Amino acid sequence: MNLKFYVYFVVIFLLSSACRKDQISRSVTPYQPDVPEHFPNMPVPADNPMTKEGVELGRQLFYDERLSRDNTISCASCHEQKYSFSDKEKFSLGVDGQIGSRNSMALINLAWQEDFFWDGRDESLEEQILEPVVTPHEMDQSWPTTLNKLSADVDYRNQFFNVFGVEEFDSTHVSKAIAQFLRTLISGKSKYDVMYKYQNSLPLTPEEQVIYEQITTEEWAGMDVFFSLSGGDCLHCHDGALAHVNMFANNGLDATFEDAGRMLVTGNPADKGKFKVPTLRNIEHTAPYMHDGRFETLDDVVDHYSFGLVESPTIDPMMEFAHQGGVQLDFQERELLKTFLKTFTDEQFLNNPDFQDPEVN
Ligand code: HEC
Ligand code: HEC
Repeated sequence: MNLKFYVYFVVIFLLSSACRKDQISRSVTPYQPDVPEHFPNMPVPADNPMTKEGVELGRQLFYDERLSRDNTISCASCHEQKYSFSDKEKFSLGVDGQIGSRNSMALINLAWQEDFFWDGRDESLEEQILEPVVTPHEMDQSWPTTLNKLSADVDYRNQFFNVFGVEEFDSTHVSKAIAQFLRTLISGKSKYDVMYKYQNSLPLTPEEQVIYEQITTEEWAGMDVFFSLSGGDCLHCHDGALAHVNMFANNGLDATFEDAGRMLVTGNPADKGKFKVPTLRNIEHTAPYMHDGRFETLDDVVDHYSFGLVESPTIDPMMEFAHQGGVQLDFQERELLKTFLKTFTDEQFLNNPDFQDPEVN
């Protein structure tokens, strides 16, 4: 057979197989995230546009225990919806009951965040998701094994083909699908959101108007304590429509550091003991608190900022009252502040059926 003929047959074969697959299944619908009006636009990476089918695939993977070595742990084992996708342990349990040294993080409004993990070692969700699978004290399974297990399932093979157009999927496709699901975990329907909108003269929907009327004097007073410079002075780091500022800070937990935090990533001693400022959304449901889960209750947290601050060379300059141990809130102010912190609770988020295990609903 001469070369011309050979090329001709190869081209015909490729075209026909491509057409065949396309005809069989690819059909995706763009996913429109439900972004609250008072939020900035949601950034989505150009190489991972969201589709309904991609989000659904990501949800199945998030709840799939086959991602772990002994098929007992899924992402949701340490990120449970009822705890706003964190867990109640000080340190989460991985395969064989192994534990790490950090507290599981709540997964909320991740699309707007720029650094992931307490030390911010990953700059995209797609990168971040590759880690827990292989981490020994988490899922403890190599990617080749994970891919073998998942691709034995014809339903997954069909879904990956449909969503990404690949006949053999790899770890990047798994992480892209999970990232699409994680970007749908949006919380913007708490009492705080209504208070924020009201204070910024943004129009309230009829549904929000009803919530507005339920806001108590104590909740408004607690908001004042939170934002006031002569009160809790919390606004520097926990602020805005998202109630989250993209930064790392040392909030005065320790004088010396067992976990160097941000410095582990940058190597810069000026970053020693700094951690990602976590979201305060659903804070009532994400105990225990801080990177090492040292505080069990919101009382402990409020006491820390009131009179438990410890000075160190990298303490944030915004912790203005560290020299006197904290902002010295009296009993009533501490109660009000706690009441305000509970306005971040978003019941719709905590009960949203779209976020649940697809096997269950
Ligand atoms: C064994 C428990 C465990 C499992 C399983 C687990 N995680 Fe986590 N997750 C954690 C802990 C602990 C942290 C914080 C770790 C750190 O900062 O070093 C974290 C952090 C994260 C973050 C960063 C959030 C932020 O605000 O920076 C994301 C996103 C995340 N996990 C997603 C996942 C996904 C997706 C999976 C499944 C592929 C998964 N996790 C599996 C415990 C777990
Ligand atoms: C200088 C910045 C800064 C200020 C000001 C600040 N925080 Fe924080 N906050 C942080 C950082 C950083 C963390 C995480 C620290 C860690 O885990 O090591 C944190 C953690 C928290 C947590 C625990 C969150 C979780 O998921 O574990 C709560 C609750 C909290 N802060 C509430 C407050 C309140 C209330 C105030 C005001 C009294 C306040 N913060 C003032 C930076 C700040």
